[in-house]
Amino acid sequence: MQTIVVATQNIGKVVEIKKMLEDLNVEVKTMSEAGIDIDIDENGITFEENAIIKAEALKKYTNAIILADDSGLEIDYLNKEPGVYSARYLGKDTSYKIKNEMILDKLKNVPKEKRTARFICAMALAANDMRTVTTRGTIEGYIGYEARGTNGFGYDPIFFVDEYNTSTADMCADLKNEISHRGKALKQMKERLKEILEG
Ligand code: IMP
Repeated sequence: MQTIVVATQNIGKVVEIKKMLEDLNVEVKTMSEAGIDIDIDENGITFEENAIIKAEALKKYTNAIILADDSGLEIDYLNKEPGVYSARYLGKDTSYKIKNEMILDKLKNVPKEKRTARFICAMALAANDMRTVTTRGTIEGYIGYEARGTNGFGYDPIFFVDEYNTSTADMCADLKNEISHRGKALKQMKERLKEILEG
């Protein structure tokens, strides 16, 4: 069975990616499960650049296929912040409960039509003997007026999707994975992965 190492320390992402790859005949490992303990300097200015940086950084530590994701939230009212800085925004060690409250505060009294936002995810697939490939997925939504839901991670409690009239933290994992930025990027990447696995 082939192994795929997911180039992230973010458990929330790993849980989602593992679930979405369940139907493939592959063993999905986190970096720590693969015995890789490195800090990667994500100094790209686009999601794709950062995904490639993360995937390629692991190449010298493993012969497995590497899957990296770089994702974030763009809020139109905040000039598309936090964008590629989503993980570091408002302090690397600030809890998301506080970050989400601070964002809600910044958007206090802003009407719904100006609260538009999107999650973006770029995925990169790398392996020693192939050219790194990327895919991108997005989901459009808006910043709600209060946090809702306990599923997911990060900014999920304040990211609302009109069609479902609730936040991505208030959705079951299967629904979020079906409609999310990560789900869409991974769906495209799975096609590429299948080709590689079939050799
Ligand atoms: P990075 O891709 O590890 O640099 O970090 C992405 C950051 O964007 C995460 O730490 C979250 O803050 C945010 N983010 C990305 N995807 C999601 C999601 O599906 N739900 C909530 N927050 C997300």
